[in-house]
Amino acid sequence: MTISFEGRVAIVTGAGNGLGRSHALELARRGAKVVVNDLGGARDGSGASSAASQEVVKLIEDMGGEAISHGANVANFDEVQDMVQQTMDKWGRIDILINNAGILRDKSFSKMSLDDFKLVMDVHVMGTVNCTKAVWEIMKAQNYGRIVMTTSSSGMYGNFGQSNYGAAKMAVLGLMNTLVLEGAKNNILVNALAPTAGTRMTEDLMPEEIVKAFAPEAVTAGLLTLCDEHAPNRFILCAGAGGYSSATIFETDGCFIPQGSQNPETVRELWPQITNTDNQRALTSGAQQGEKFVLKAMAYRKSLQQ
Ligand code: NAI
Repeated sequence: MTISFEGRVAIVTGAGNGLGRSHALELARRGAKVVVNDLGGARDGSGASSAASQEVVKLIEDMGGEAISHGANVANFDEVQDMVQQTMDKWGRIDILINNAGILRDKSFSKMSLDDFKLVMDVHVMGTVNCTKAVWEIMKAQNYGRIVMTTSSSGMYGNFGQSNYGAAKMAVLGLMNTLVLEGAKNNILVNALAPTAGTRMTEDLMPEEIVKAFAPEAVTAGLLTLCDEHAPNRFILCAGAGGYSSATIFETDGCFIPQGSQNPETVRELWPQITNTDNQRALTSGAQQGEKFVLKAMAYRKSLQQ
């Protein structure tokens, strides 16, 4: 079945370059009205320019689509609110938010300044929070919303020199996990994309032919399935070079240690049981972990009475 965005309004942050540009163009090609947001700075977040986002708007208009550009710095809530207001004034609704804008300030943790850490957190985490906060009540009132967080393998698994970026990319997954619970009754679905693409963010990290193999368009094909009418909820879709997979945090079943034996020596002794993955599960709320432990304690008490 063709995936269409006819009648939908989408905001794509950081859409002047790379992945955001590709997302914006394909959403528009499939009928969405698109807000092409971009601050237009350098890869490290310095500077600003509207040239790239305006070019994307022109490409969309040339193909017969509708788009506006907005230079909001996603880390600045007032600017984000202005973008959202302009979108509402023009099109009266916001169906889709793609939180994509991002920067890099890579250095080993020893050499990284706190300013570089905070700036990366500000753009990726607060940028995502600001944009999501600004559209949240609108999506609730519409009883329709699709939000995508952009995470990264660097956050989920680590990458040398990216402690700031990795922390930020994991934080947006924490935001997703709670918004999934809070948005469900208003048909707001939240998912995350973990892309790998040859863009200016990665061009000097990969050889040229590899950059070409990791085309942003391959990632965009996956992104579109996370934000249409039939989107899933709470999925982390990993995509790059035509490969697609899904990442999930599982928790092992673990064990119960009775009072009197709750000491580090017993925990170490039972480590193989604690970390045994046989009956691991993906939990869907923090409370489920507490329930699991209570059930284990109750089962232990019952076993004493028999
Ligand atoms: P890119 O550097 O080509 O594009 C990022 C865009 O975001 C730029 O146009 C930039 O001007 C804009 N931007 C930066 N700070 C902004 C701000 N404060 N407000 C508004 N716009 C801002 O990078 P790329 O590769 O397209 O990355 C897009 C997203 O995907 C980022 O969140 C990145 O962390 C993530 N990602 C990319 C990977 C890759 O392999 N390219 C890997 C994992 C994650």
